[in-house]
Amino acid sequence: MLKKITALMTALVLALTVAGCQGNKKVSDNTETEPKKELSSVEKIKQAGKIIVGTESTFPPYESIDPKDGKTVVGFDMDIAKAVADKLGVKLEIKDMKFDGLIGALSTGMLDFVAAGMTVTDERKQNADFSQIYYKGGQVLVILESNNSIKSAADMKGKKIGAQLGTTSEKAANLIKGINFKSMDKVDQLMMEVKNGMIDGVVVDDVVGIQYTKSLGGLKVVEIPELNEGDAGMGIAVQKGNEELLKVINDTIDELKTNGGFDKLTEKWGLLRQD
Ligand code: ARG
Repeated sequence: MLKKITALMTALVLALTVAGCQGNKKVSDNTETEPKKELSSVEKIKQAGKIIVGTESTFPPYESIDPKDGKTVVGFDMDIAKAVADKLGVKLEIKDMKFDGLIGALSTGMLDFVAAGMTVTDERKQNADFSQIYYKGGQVLVILESNNSIKSAADMKGKKIGAQLGTTSEKAANLIKGINFKSMDKVDQLMMEVKNGMIDGVVVDDVVGIQYTKSLGGLKVVEIPELNEGDAGMGIAVQKGNEELLKVINDTIDELKTNGGFDKLTEKWGLLRQD
């Protein structure tokens, strides 16, 4: 009986202590987040101790899930994003989301910037500001290695062609007349659809297409010049009007380009140096 009471009392004390701690934490958290004065975007990031980058992780070598742990997003863009965080002396937090939702999430302030192999377009520039172009690429078609029936834009007519939702690849595919188009959220899913014969091909950024043919096997890349009208290159996006953060990002890219860091990264991720 006595043992039981002691046990009960210990439990009670423990519970109260835990509750007490939580209560205290809440109170101090509240006071910390209370806005004292208007901070600039970069000051806010420094105060938070972290910067949040948005991306979509089925786009190797720009960004993909590290097979070592099955969850960390790694890649060329993530290394650049890390350099931005380092320049500010803060931690990098990566939010992996649908490509189609990135600019929206940036506008609402859920993200500080977007690094997602994102092509700079006039349409996107209406809702975000972009850094200097850090990489240029074109669009290609990925089909089964055994498929000899698609060699040109004309051959794509009547074929089932896929691309990632909300991308310039989707736009490029739809410039080809008469295709049977399908969009999906993830590039790896699209590649599996080609492998399984559900669709005939995927329009995707060249380096990414090459990477998937290497990692999956049984696929090949076809160059279709008509897919490459007006690709301006990739940039990092910030919220419209956030000049301060944009400058930090542009300075980071400049530094990487002059100190050799950029060349190291293009080599590390199998990208060819382009100016
Ligand atoms: N460059 C293309 C675009 O801007 C595709 C980018 C897709 N990026 C990704 N992380 N899934 O629309």
